[in-house]
Amino acid sequence: MGDHLIGDVDSITSGSAKRFDIEGVRLAIARVGDTFYALADRCSHEDFSLSLGEVFVETCEIECARHGATFDLLTGAAMCFPATIGVAVYPVNVVGGEIVVTLP
Ligand code: FES
Repeated sequence: MGDHLIGDVDSITSGSAKRFDIEGVRLAIARVGDTFYALADRCSHEDFSLSLGEVFVETCEIECARHGATFDLLTGAAMCFPATIGVAVYPVNVVGGEIVVTLP
């Protein structure tokens, strides 16, 4: 599905995440410092939006706000129970101050 413009880098502050719906794909875009991460915005434990959770800057993880599972922002791997399966991650680049996500 190619490259998709998400928005200005300043639209997401470090240590937070936002949800975006791109061509039927629910994305959680998270920011840690000047690095952006894109994950499928659906917890693997139950259908819950990861973008509603807390971003842990120190460990580069996002916590599901429903039952507390955490996921590695870079790999999407489930880091603690109750989730045991990871979530999809997508490449993110910053081009001219804009966040660009590449979907397969
Ligand atoms: S729905 Fe995310 S940990 Fe249960």
